[in-house]
Amino acid sequence: MSTLLRAVKGMNDMLPDEMRRVQRVEAAFARAMQLYGFREVRTPLVEPTSLFVRAIGEATDVVEKEMYSFVHHDEALTLRPEGTAGAVRAYIEHGVPQSEPVTRWYYVGPMFRAERPQRGRYRQFWQAGAEVFGDRGPAADAEMVDLLVRFLRDIGVPDARVLVNSLGDSAARQRYKAVLVDYLLPRAEKLSPYSQRRLEQNPLRILDSKDPRDAEVLEGAPTILEVLSGEDTAHFAAFRRHLDALGAPYEVAPRLVRGLDYYTRTLFEIKGATAKLGAGDTLVGGGRYDAMVADLGGPSVPAIGFAAGVERLVIASEAADVAGAVDAFVAPLGDATLEYALVLARDLRAAGVKTELDGRQSTLKALLRRATAIGARFAAIVGDDEVTKRVVQLKDLDARSQETVAREEVVATLRRKLAERVVEGSS
Ligand code: HAM
Repeated sequence: MSTLLRAVKGMNDMLPDEMRRVQRVEAAFARAMQLYGFREVRTPLVEPTSLFVRAIGEATDVVEKEMYSFVHHDEALTLRPEGTAGAVRAYIEHGVPQSEPVTRWYYVGPMFRAERPQRGRYRQFWQAGAEVFGDRGPAADAEMVDLLVRFLRDIGVPDARVLVNSLGDSAARQRYKAVLVDYLLPRAEKLSPYSQRRLEQNPLRILDSKDPRDAEVLEGAPTILEVLSGEDTAHFAAFRRHLDALGAPYEVAPRLVRGLDYYTRTLFEIKGATAKLGAGDTLVGGGRYDAMVADLGGPSVPAIGFAAGVERLVIASEAADVAGAVDAFVAPLGDATLEYALVLARDLRAAGVKTELDGRQSTLKALLRRATAIGARFAAIVGDDEVTKRVVQLKDLDARSQETVAREEVVATLRRKLAERVVEGSS
């Protein structure tokens, strides 16, 4: 007996009902990005492993444990765990910094991380993200957060919380690491074993721990804001002033750190729909990475970006679901009516009416049951009599009314009724 083939753990199919919600979120995202002057890019799903190791950092969970890496013909390759490294690689490779001073890119696509799957956390997941190159901010930083707040409101995320912090430059992080290690070392035995190991390699990651033992130790720990340089402090203060001017809500979260090592200065996260998403309620993560373009071999160009998990946005979005992929359902009754129905369906589509033709030759009852099931608004019923008289029985499936319409009037009548429906629905 053959065994049933199943999708890889943590990698999900998206069937049409879910895709409708995904498409709505992605369309709202593309609209929001274009309003702010961003242009779409697509970069490969597979990149050299060394790109992610260099960009994201060796001592991160993503690089240490979560990458899908393989060797193909002596080339070490990885399925991209995120979009920023590839975008920066492409930005440098195509000489973009030489041809434009400011670049705004956005992207939507699948990412791969071998994490423990749970609600809102998958091994293949979609990110909708954006990067701005060439602008030191902090106005760019504030605009990015503001556009995200608006976008989330647009797609009906009710309780979005914006957390902001600043990590300063690499010197500030070195200073902070020393201060933090000084504070944690005498308390090391109270930390979780995982954080005890992190203490040597990457102490800032301890701030991100969800372990209650770590949280207790961290309660009195110094924050990075205390060791920022004057310039970094001024940048952070201006960022917050700009957010205030825009009326964008935020909270300063001085212990906020993120799982990727490339961030400098501005850092932010947007959480929401916690009741539905639990611990995985971070919808958007982003920040400034002013050193990465130069670190990867390009000129010294500052950058800031974010990425949102599309599946999480879909779970969080409470916008009413618009049912009905089809406006008209053409129902031919009997063999002799099929060609009349074929032409009618084609004419409706040519006029922009979303139409499904059911050519199975079923009973009227079965056809109407299916029309209702797929959410069609009208059924155009065609029997032998209708063909002879060159008419159609047009049934309004919501109002449950029916009328006889001349064949040459059907397209115009349906379009008018559909337009009336839209006006009624929006009033
Ligand atoms: P990140 O925080 O690793 O940042 O991911 C951003 C968002 O992707 C998360 O907030 C979450 O919504 C979603 N996400 C991450 N991992 C998973 C997963 N396993 N399953 C489902 N959703 C997930 C980045 O990736 C950066 N590249 C963002 C960025 C762009 N920073 C600057 N530019």
